Amino acid sequence: MKMSVIGCGYLGAVHAASMVKLGHEVVGIDVDNAKIEALAAGQSPIYEPGLPELLVESVGSGRLTFSTDPAAAKGSKVHFVAVGTPQKAGSYAADLRFVDAAVQGLLPYLSEGDLVVGKSTVPVGTAERLAKMVEPTGARLAWNPEFLREGFAVKDTISPDRLVYGLPADAGDAARAKALLDEVYAEALAANTPLVATDYATAELVKVAANAFLATKISFINAMAEISEATGADVTQLADAIGYDARIGRRFLNAGAGFGGGCLPKDIRAFSARAEELGKGEALNFLKEVDGINLRRRDRVVELVVEALGGSAYNKKVAVLGLAFKPDSDDIRDSPSLDVAVRLNGLGANVVASDPQAIANSRRMHPQLVFGTTEEALQDADAVVVVTEWKEYRELDPKTVGDMVTSKIVIDGRNCLDVAAWRDAGWKYTGMGRR
Ligand code: UDX
Repeated sequence: MKMSVIGCGYLGAVHAASMVKLGHEVVGIDVDNAKIEALAAGQSPIYEPGLPELLVESVGSGRLTFSTDPAAAKGSKVHFVAVGTPQKAGSYAADLRFVDAAVQGLLPYLSEGDLVVGKSTVPVGTAERLAKMVEPTGARLAWNPEFLREGFAVKDTISPDRLVYGLPADAGDAARAKALLDEVYAEALAANTPLVATDYATAELVKVAANAFLATKISFINAMAEISEATGADVTQLADAIGYDARIGRRFLNAGAGFGGGCLPKDIRAFSARAEELGKGEALNFLKEVDGINLRRRDRVVELVVEALGGSAYNKKVAVLGLAFKPDSDDIRDSPSLDVAVRLNGLGANVVASDPQAIANSRRMHPQLVFGTTEEALQDADAVVVVTEWKEYRELDPKTVGDMVTSKIVIDGRNCLDVAAWRDAGWKYTGMGRR
């Protein structure tokens, strides 16, 4: 099928290349010229495992092209909208400027029978409004939220764990939209991927509800970490023990510096803001607590570093290992790790921050920070703080690192190090919510 993908960021670039892998012919459209030039040359503008190979293969096949001109969408049957919905400045609500502009820009190039498919995460009610914009062209609109995780984005797109279609209210329109989406996802459907076909509002809500649940799960265990810290309990053992209950499950119960990224933090805020607009703010009041618990964990990491340094970080060299919001990503949006580096720097510590992939993005946002290799960060450090659990940090040898630093003080902001090994090597180890 011929399709267009509007927005070629973390979501759209992966979606475009993955659709080609599924046999389709795709044009990716974005307003960012540099991004489009890189993609057209088969180069990934982001760090996402598997994406560089997939781009080379897809562009090489001749079935993946890129353009900055929305007119390139003409002739496609399906048009995916995969632009960002960041948090609005000075508010909790989502900024829908890019979604609105993407749909508006498509209108002159839509033909009778085309399907515009929203993938961006939007406040409930958006699809209904956009459908009204699209209808006069003879095209229709569906909402098809994306559940991909960065670091696994290619796999999650090609083999999703579920498909959700938000379809038009008119039965005929819904049937035609469903048939087109079924053709797009024929491979996943043939593999028995569960499908929920529903209305716009449910499809929009599924996405934010899923992210709200995940955020709540993480903040729940981080709240238990706070209580563990006050009582001498160990939150990792607690998580293991409650996780054996299949109804609870152990996944997403890792206490640490908290969640970040381009989705969870802004999605729970936008969800609360939307609930307030609907006069149902009370129903989601708990998400404010979820956010609060999450932000307190960053303070706690900084507090632990300062405490371990004897009450002041001033003029102390601190190695900050990790800047990305999670491993296997270069994404620093709302990253607790980068936040910790910035705050320690603000306290007068001589921070040297490192990350396998996220230094360039971090430097653009915080040029005041000093960045270096892992070795440069560790050399003569008065304290080491691990804030993103990259494999190479988890596998650091405490003996070797011990010979590089000035003081063997380590704060494990992700509870990802082997406590016994670090303590045996003479380190003063502090985890999050751990004895
Ligand atoms: C998330 C959702 O998982 C995905 O379904 C949705 O489409 C987009 O948002 P992503 O932002 O890639 O995906 O990251 P995810 O793996 O969910 O992690 C989010 C944050 O939570 C990270 O900062 C991670 O470090 C943190 N986290 C995760 C924890 O602190 N503890 C955990 O147990 C799990």
